[in-house]
Amino acid sequence: MRTMRAVCIYSYGGPSVLKYEDAPRPHPQEGEVLIRVHAAGINQVDWKIREGHLKEMLHHTLPLILGWDVSGVVEALGTGVIRLKIGDEVFSRPDIARDGAYAEFITIKESEVSLKPKSIDHIHAAALPLVGLTAWQTLFDAAGLAAGQRVLIHAAAGGVGHLAVQLAKWKGAHVIATASAHNHDFLRKLGADQVVDYKTVCFEAAVEPVDVVLDTLGGETQERSWKVLKPGGILVSIVGPPSAEMAKTHGVRQAFVFAQPNAAQLAEIAKLVDAEKLKVIVETILPLSDATRGQELSERGHTRGKIVLRVV
Ligand SMILES: NC(=O)c1ccc[n+]([C@@H]2O[C@H](COP(=O)([O-])OP(=O)(O)OC[C@H]3O[C@@H](n4cnc5c(N)ncnc54)[C@H](OP(=O)(O)O)[C@@H]3O)[C@@H](O)[C@H]2O)c1
Repeated sequence: MRTMRAVCIYSYGGPSVLKYEDAPRPHPQEGEVLIRVHAAGINQVDWKIREGHLKEMLHHTLPLILGWDVSGVVEALGTGVIRLKIGDEVFSRPDIARDGAYAEFITIKESEVSLKPKSIDHIHAAALPLVGLTAWQTLFDAAGLAAGQRVLIHAAAGGVGHLAVQLAKWKGAHVIATASAHNHDFLRKLGADQVVDYKTVCFEAAVEPVDVVLDTLGGETQERSWKVLKPGGILVSIVGPPSAEMAKTHGVRQAFVFAQPNAAQLAEIAKLVDAEKLKVIVETILPLSDATRGQELSERGHTRGKIVLRVV
């Protein structure tokens, strides 16, 4: 049996359950490609799955390889693969119900893989898929954000937020971003029209009514966000389903999005990157063997942009 280096869990728990070790190298089945992983993005969902928070929803079998953001090179093709070929440089947010990308190899359905942006390296490409698709699917699919509308983006300096700011701006929206003061210049450079320091200012008091709120924090922030919506506006959360009753009371709409793999949307995102209309920021690069530290950093909740594991 051929093996590879990978970061697996055998039980749910804290960072110590992560094991960097040899694991069986996967083979591509029908409709799948084998990718030699060059870089794997870290997302908050990785440590949430590690801790078992999503086990009722995802029914993983253990051991499980974590990490659902990847950039790499196609190494082998399963039968029936027609669009991709060996040697293609690709990126993907693969199916979160299967083994992930903290590994030297991963097999992914061809339908979940796109050619990576040509203008950026694998480290930056691996930072894009999960948060890029999340920003796209919340702003455009769920909220139908249109030019001239006003959008409030919470945690705008984070993984999802910093791409959402740029995508909303590209669409022609007026963008309001929440972040602590040290991130304000960063967000203005990405296109934010107004920045609100959530540590010293009540955003409900500082923000004129908006058409869309992108809730990346849940809890109290979600509760307080109803008040800033225009009648008929929409609160889209990626953290917890907003109350339908509260939406009715405020005369607005609500949606919860759990982002899904989508190769066509990834291809659109790649085009925007190559056209220099979208930039992904990587704050920290670590070797695959340091996944534990990467997850600990992610869990703190103050990353600017992304954390990525270098595999090759
Ligand atoms: N449903 C889905 O499909 C989906 C997809 C992706 C992510 N998510 C979830 O969405 C959440 C955000 O993900 P992410 O990857 O963007 O997280 P992240 O990159 O870890 O977010 C970090 C950012 O949050 C900011 N922040 C922390 N507390 C804040 C507050 N009270 N107000 C404003 N900003 C605050 C920090 O800015 P400062 O340093 O300035 O505080 C930091 O830049 C996570 O819970 C994640 O699991 C869900």
